[in-house]
Amino acid sequence: MMDADMLVLHLNSIQEVIQNEGDLNFGGLLGKIEVLCRELDVPVGVKEVGWGIDGGTAKKLVDAGVSFIDTAGAGGTSWSQVEKFRSADPVKRAAAEAFSDWGIPTADSLRSVRTQVGQPVIASGGLRTGLDAAKALALGADLAGFGRSILREATESTEAVLRVLQTRELELRIAMFGIGARNLDALKNTPHLTVR
Ligand SMILES: Cc1cc2nc3c(=O)[nH]c(=O)nc-3n(C[C@H](O)[C@H](O)[C@H](O)COP(=O)(O)O)c2cc1C
Repeated sequence: MMDADMLVLHLNSIQEVIQNEGDLNFGGLLGKIEVLCRELDVPVGVKEVGWGIDGGTAKKLVDAGVSFIDTAGAGGTSWSQVEKFRSADPVKRAAAEAFSDWGIPTADSLRSVRTQVGQPVIASGGLRTGLDAAKALALGADLAGFGRSILREATESTEAVLRVLQTRELELRIAMFGIGARNLDALKNTPHLTVR
């Protein structure tokens, strides 16, 4: 209806448990995703919400027709923690606490997904700078996503968001210049940026 260019599905099961109004009906999800990919005439992507996707899951999703994967790995925004702060239920708040470091870290998720699928992979989850983006691209990502680290600017103005993204771009370009990577292909194949 909105003439969107794509649809992105969130695999946010743990978030839904903590959320008061959460929907826990995740049964038969892969089959439903497969139908959606078949029926829609725009690309369907799948992302996590702060706990990462593993390579095996990414492969199943791609086999079901998914066009791209966003890691949304652990190490940045965690939506169980966001729901913890939103919830007025002391039992749910306490349970959410146990999941504060749940999930696959972004770098591990990225490596795992990259070994299993050739489709575009977006690295997100805890990225703060253009240097983080450069490392993600060197690890095999095609795009890098920022959430929390541009949230303040997003609540200020469009100009503030553009400024912070210009900074991210400059940081990315500086990192590429520093390792002698002439373009993004060279960055993707560099041995000079490592992530532990
Ligand atoms: C306030 C906030 C709202 C968000 N809303 C969405 C959203 O509507 N759709 C989406 O795909 N990602 C959204 N994200 C991003 C992801 O859920 C996840 O946080 C992503 O991996 C970015 O990680 P980062 O926040 O650690 O950079 C949001 C992030 C924040 C901080």
